Amino acid sequence: MIKIAPSILSADFADMAKDVEELTRGGADLIHCDVMDGHFVPNLTFGPKMVADIKRRTNVPLDVHLMIADPAFYIPAFVRSGADLVTFHMETSADPLAILRSIEAAGVKGGVVVNPETPVTVISDDVIRACSMILVMSVHPGFGGQKFIPDALPKLRDLRARIDRLNPTCDLEIDGGITFDNVGEAARAGANVIVAGNTIFKESDRAAAIERLRSCAR
Ligand code: DX5
Ligand code: ZN
Repeated sequence: MIKIAPSILSADFADMAKDVEELTRGGADLIHCDVMDGHFVPNLTFGPKMVADIKRRTNVPLDVHLMIADPAFYIPAFVRSGADLVTFHMETSADPLAILRSIEAAGVKGGVVVNPETPVTVISDDVIRACSMILVMSVHPGFGGQKFIPDALPKLRDLRARIDRLNPTCDLEIDGGITFDNVGEAARAGANVIVAGNTIFKESDRAAAIERLRSCAR
């Protein structure tokens, strides 16, 4: 089952409620919230207050992607803000298992992310067993509207095989440069959660864009 996770990085930050309500009516399965700290990535977005404010505007689960240098320090604040799922980067975490366990202990789903240059071998079998989601970046994190890096496809195939063996309920998410033309390839490589920012927000009819992505992924 394919899930579509529109990224609000491409939303109008001064009119966030309107965009979130439109994605909710438009059939989004998750709302992907990109948190950037200006250290781990060369851009800044928003923190827990925005997540809490979005939470009041939608019943769609919030998928919070932390592109921040010290995820362990900030995770409790994102849990309090109503995040349903929190992912953090393997590149930032010496002890991902401990972080995953702390997220789960708070009653929230947790997952790990790998950057384009990070091999999937950094994700141990124990980490796969402890994850609710694994996210493969198909652009260098920091900005929407970049071009898909096809090296993500073999990484998806490798992780899909390990997930099916070790933790079949774990989701596999792809993030960055997804279009109507490449979403099918990503899904066939094993991704079942599709993040899309620019592809959805550049269309005036966001509901139609969500549906079209879903049908192109089949
Ligand atoms: C990039 C973010 C992505 C971004 C994707 O750092 O993690 O979630 O919003 O945007 P598009 O789909 O436009 O590449
Ligand atoms: Zn993201």
